[in-house]
Amino acid sequence: MKTIVLPDYNKNVLRAMLSLKIEERVLHKLQSDEVLIKTHAAVCNPSDIAFIQGVYNIVKPVPAIPGFEGSGQIVEVGEKAKELMGKNVSAFVQNDTHGTWAEYFVAKTSDVIVLSEDMDLDQGACFTVNPFTAYGLFEIVRIAGAKALIQNASGGQVAAFIRKMGDEFGCKVIDIVRKKETAEMLVAEGAKHVLIETDEDFDKQLKDICNKLKPTVAFDAVGGTLSGKMFNALAPHSDLVVYGGLSNKPMLELSIMDTIFNDKIVSGFNLIDWKKQLAEGEFEEISQSLQQKFIDGDYKTKIYNTVELVNIVKGIKGYLGNMSGGKLLIKP
Ligand SMILES: NC(=O)c1ccc[n+]([C@@H]2O[C@H](COP(=O)([O-])OP(=O)(O)OC[C@H]3O[C@@H](n4cnc5c(N)ncnc54)[C@H](OP(=O)(O)O)[C@@H]3O)[C@@H](O)[C@H]2O)c1
Repeated sequence: MKTIVLPDYNKNVLRAMLSLKIEERVLHKLQSDEVLIKTHAAVCNPSDIAFIQGVYNIVKPVPAIPGFEGSGQIVEVGEKAKELMGKNVSAFVQNDTHGTWAEYFVAKTSDVIVLSEDMDLDQGACFTVNPFTAYGLFEIVRIAGAKALIQNASGGQVAAFIRKMGDEFGCKVIDIVRKKETAEMLVAEGAKHVLIETDEDFDKQLKDICNKLKPTVAFDAVGGTLSGKMFNALAPHSDLVVYGGLSNKPMLELSIMDTIFNDKIVSGFNLIDWKKQLAEGEFEEISQSLQQKFIDGDYKTKIYNTVELVNIVKGIKGYLGNMSGGKLLIKP
């Protein structure tokens, strides 16, 4: 099969991206709990960018095949996976020897979600990670009964699902973006409270809107001083939930007094750990209800561009230049 290969990690994202090449690889015999998936599409997420830079929590031996998420059809099965033969699936793979940026990839049965026949396979390529992340994060809002929340990286796809869930639940969403054009896009899509972090009076705007709406949950995918600004702007008895570190900076300027006297906490969210604590059958139930929302057209991952494996570098360049535009799909 043809696959994209990363020869070595490089903190410089441009160099890491330019080093990607196409190679032929031989497929090995499957373990009993494994399936072989003929790739329909793979996606490029921020975690893939961090991976090729060698700064993600998954480090495979190099040369490595990148790509954690994708969709396709099961074309070969191990002994214990016979019932999955021929199924369309969405998958999340983090094993050392395979990645989704390839013509075929191997996944464990526990890492695939069988897709309904009505589910679009392009949407399926971005189904296992972000919709469930937004769902898991939004559980915090539901449990807390929060009336308002703050989030950053609001032009991203997780944030877009959170906004949708906010509408459904009746929780007001304060969105923070870093570019004017992203703010305009969100407002055109119906977002009600959008702030631009680079505006001169951003701190005042954030304080004013928070005094009015009294958010008690904040979702932070950025870090740096924005973590502190969001934390400090939250109402008392609130939770800043960190789920990404897009700025590559530590969390800064969180008020000590607020933490002590206003009962504010900081917590982390990780999809894999969230999945592990679900009751038996719960993940399948959530998956069915989320898939139905995609099939009905209520939920959709925005896709900005689709490239073939050979055009990966061009594709990643475009994605990095306009992440809020939507996801990059990679097809064999
Ligand atoms: N913890 C978990 O389990 C989990 C699961 C899924 C995703 N995540 C994380 O969630 C975050 C969002 O993922 P996604 O798939 O929704 O992203 P996405 O759709 O690819 O979009 C990324 C968004 O982040 C913005 N952004 C990038 N770098 C930024 C920076 N330094 N400062 C401010 N904004 C920045 C982009 O804005 P521009 O258009 O301005 O570039 C864009 O709106 C990522 O950090 C990802 O790793 C975590």
